[in-house]
Amino acid sequence: MSGNSQTILELRNVHKRFGPLIVLRGVNLALERGKTTVIIGESGTGKSVLLKIMLGLIRPDSGEVYFEGRRVDTLRPREWVEIRKQFGFLFQMGALFDSFTAAQNVGFPLAEHTDYSDEEIERIANEKLAMVGLYGVGPKRPAELSGGQRKRVALARAIALNPKIILYDEPTTGLDPLRSDAINDLIIKLKDELRVTSVVVTHDMTSAFKVGDRILMLQQGQFIADGTPDDFRNSTDPRVRRFVTGDADLDVEQATA
Ligand SMILES: Nc1ncnc2c1ncn2[C@@H]1O[C@H](COP(=O)(O)OP(=O)(O)O)[C@@H](O)[C@H]1O
Ligand SMILES: [Mg+2]
Repeated sequence: MSGNSQTILELRNVHKRFGPLIVLRGVNLALERGKTTVIIGESGTGKSVLLKIMLGLIRPDSGEVYFEGRRVDTLRPREWVEIRKQFGFLFQMGALFDSFTAAQNVGFPLAEHTDYSDEEIERIANEKLAMVGLYGVGPKRPAELSGGQRKRVALARAIALNPKIILYDEPTTGLDPLRSDAINDLIIKLKDELRVTSVVVTHDMTSAFKVGDRILMLQQGQFIADGTPDDFRNSTDPRVRRFVTGDADLDVEQATA
């Protein structure tokens, strides 16, 4: 319910198609403030589209989106700029500006959206870098950093404006297990220290189990499962089990059972 202050963001009966391709067919979701909600699902099921709808980058064909109790899907792009300042987002291709230093990358949203002096921006940027474990990395350029470090610079940039909510799109994809786990730890740390609400889109079940307070599985345009990590571990739903165990053979077992 949009009037419930425990709910920071809500999608109501959201539909989205691209031409003949129906991506979302009636998605309902209320995000509880301060919690981490994980959305899992096969590649191409519409997870990124869902995040873009939450951010006002894609407009649903029908349905409603509420942020802090206010209907936002009908807002104009200019009005969205104000709303979007309260969001941090870490996109899959979370590209950094190559010619900027790490600190300049992190400071970019501050330069764009605040009146802070250059010195103040640099101080805040370095503070955010320290928060993601990159103390002293400010002067380096992206080319001098590892993939995991670049991801963390992008995360420092995502929290530059002290967002209320952070959207993570496949934050651990392409990282080795150690670096993935460092990102998981950061998602948890930011939740605890900044008390942000988080949405994590992933197909990495280790990450989903570790960071999620709640997990939802998107399939064929709708959420087909919704529960705690333990609910997912213990699920008997073959669609969930197949995804959780990464075991395509379950298809065969089902077919031959
Ligand atoms: N702007 C767009 N125009 C046309 N098709 C799109 C667009 N964005 C996404 N799609 C399609 O919608 C489907 C869902 O995409 P996406 O949300 O990126 O999936 P994923 O779950 O892997 O993040 C895919 O088939 C994708 O090709
Ligand atoms: Mg995606």
